[in-house]
Amino acid sequence: MNKRKAVITGVAGQDGSYLAELLLEKGYEVYGMIPRRSSPETQTLRLDHITSRLHLEYGDVLDMGSLLRTLKEVQPDEVYHLAAQSHVQVSFMEPVHTTSVIVLGTVNRLEAVAHAAPRARVYNAASSEMFGNTPDLPSDEESRMVPCSPYATAKLNAYHLSRVYRVSRRMFVSNGILFNHESPRRGLNFVTAKIVKGALDIKAGRKEELVLGNLKSSRDWGHARDYVRAMWMMLQHEAPDDFLVATGVETTVQEFLERVFRRLGIPDPYRYVKISPRYIRPYEVNRLRGNPAKIQRILGWKPTFTLDDLINDMIEGLSRGTLAEQAYSLEKA
Ligand code: GDD
Repeated sequence: MNKRKAVITGVAGQDGSYLAELLLEKGYEVYGMIPRRSSPETQTLRLDHITSRLHLEYGDVLDMGSLLRTLKEVQPDEVYHLAAQSHVQVSFMEPVHTTSVIVLGTVNRLEAVAHAAPRARVYNAASSEMFGNTPDLPSDEESRMVPCSPYATAKLNAYHLSRVYRVSRRMFVSNGILFNHESPRRGLNFVTAKIVKGALDIKAGRKEELVLGNLKSSRDWGHARDYVRAMWMMLQHEAPDDFLVATGVETTVQEFLERVFRRLGIPDPYRYVKISPRYIRPYEVNRLRGNPAKIQRILGWKPTFTLDDLINDMIEGLSRGTLAEQAYSLEKA
């Protein structure tokens, strides 16, 4: 039997790397698109253990020709669109770049699939940031969306584009509205990885302080491994649809911080934590919490990691120094 084929944009990111692993385990041929960057040696760190089993090619979602070429050649069964500028605070500093990668990147990819591989099933990475400061908590697929950043407005646009192509072109396009999902492969400029790495450095005597922003906001944090499984399940369903992926548990940044320090046996986190305006957002999303009832009911998806499991996995992974080799440094976070 012919192997099923999948194309992943954004394959070098946290989610791309876990998804590629999952699809390889399931027997897929996996094609990953990687944009040319100035430091190619650090770009594929998250894929190093599986590079030999993947087909990696240069390609950028803003470069329609590269998308068309890959899709025409591969004729994939499934296309996972994960490429983005995914940092919310950076989107205030680079709003035009963020909007182009997310919005033009999405419409390019939808057009390219429509022309070169119209029967492929498409996963679009939407985001819980689209809910922003919604009054509807916990949020579900019907909740009001009040996006609060250029990143979130772009994601909302891309989400609607995906629905429009689903209806108007009769394409199989599903939106996964994923709440925050973390892992030892998380970039160090996201708060969970920054806290875990910072606490490990403090414990080892390598650092004396951890500089953060708003500790009062709360998020619904799950493990990226569980969330990429949800992506795959969406594309195995009989019809395209929109699914929210969350744990339903809301935790403040402060509580996350305290749990990590407690787990590492460091008595008083606030001896080390400094708050800097540098990390305070110009328009904060105060709370995010999702209700995953729909995906549980229709696809049978459930998270397998609790928040403590996630923290343990991040501590274990980061203490082995896996993220230390990544392109981002704490200073740049
Ligand atoms: N990054 C960062 N750095 N965030 C901080 C810091 C800090 O030093 N201090 C406090 N925070 C707070 C932020 O203000 C925010 O309220 C919260 O920690 C989480 O920030 P991030 O980890 O950067 O994630 P995010 O919620 O903004 O966005 C992530 O989740 C979205 C899904 O809801 C990203 O992965 C997005 O790409 C994703 O769509």
